[in-house]
Amino acid sequence: MDIEILKATAKQMVATGKGILAADESAATCQKRFDSVGVPCTEESRRAYREMIITAPGLEEYISGIILHDETLRQKTADGVPFAEVLSKKGILPGIKVDAGPKDLALHPGEKVTEGLDGLRERLAEYKALGARFAKWRAVISIDASIPSDACIHVNAHALARYAALCQEADIVPMIEPEILISGDQTIERSYEVTLASLKKVFEELAVQNVLLEGVILKTSMVIAGTKATTQSNVTQVAEATLRCLKEHVPAHIGGIVFLSGGQADEQATAHLNAMNAAGSLPWPLSFSYARAIQNPALKVWAQNPATNIASAQQVLLFRSKMNSLASQGKYSDAMETERSY
Ligand code: 13P
Repeated sequence: MDIEILKATAKQMVATGKGILAADESAATCQKRFDSVGVPCTEESRRAYREMIITAPGLEEYISGIILHDETLRQKTADGVPFAEVLSKKGILPGIKVDAGPKDLALHPGEKVTEGLDGLRERLAEYKALGARFAKWRAVISIDASIPSDACIHVNAHALARYAALCQEADIVPMIEPEILISGDQTIERSYEVTLASLKKVFEELAVQNVLLEGVILKTSMVIAGTKATTQSNVTQVAEATLRCLKEHVPAHIGGIVFLSGGQADEQATAHLNAMNAAGSLPWPLSFSYARAIQNPALKVWAQNPATNIASAQQVLLFRSKMNSLASQGKYSDAMETERSY
């Protein structure tokens, strides 16, 4: 493990005004996204869509790294240049999703544990040779009246820490993602309680397993009422509760924190990030690692005609990336949305 490489990569991932674009949807998730806009989901259509994203001119102004799926890391542009090479030339770090997805947790109905540790050391060596500089592992925690259980929080935190240690051994920065799903009817207070419990366990496990926090990026959910909750939370409440929760359990010397969008509306995800960064100086860099909240509008434009709408989809992608870049500096305002072309 090279401490300086890990620290430098983590620093680059959350450099001022930059965040991560998550484009690591599995073929099954891509199928859902493409179905929603009426585009057939094939290896070639996924490749063409990702080429549109990766080659967006000037993307590197806002995006420090892109998380890719195994299939995408092995793909090339229509001209035959590996995607990882295109990204590296632009100064964007190629990342790789390495988990094998959430599976049912034995004896715990309705709960999941993320698998993928077996053979991970060997896969990381291969991904590194293919150009990956950071990785992602996503744990999924659902909330209802009786879950999550302590067991679910524990096994997922344990797996995240084992994954993180293997990444650091290979000089790859682990992005640690314990996602609390927001699709339930939980109040913001319950979201706070579960996020806090999960983060507490994650940092305990990271310490037990000797993971270097300066070489870790935490990818977390925001503390927010569930989308089915009768009372929705406003921007000020989300920013205040999320910062309070993060300050409680995330040590100041972590490499950085980024958020997933989790199904929030695009502008809502931007406004929440902005409110947190506008709240004054923070102990850690705080940025974004959105998939849907950046890609949604660009996907819609591209889908209208994938052969001809490449430049127009890229403009839309760049616009949302820029808005989130501004939000990561507390410099975004709703009024800026009027400048968009979609
Ligand atoms: P969303 O921003 O669409 O939630 O996706 C982020 C991600 O990488 C989920 O693992």
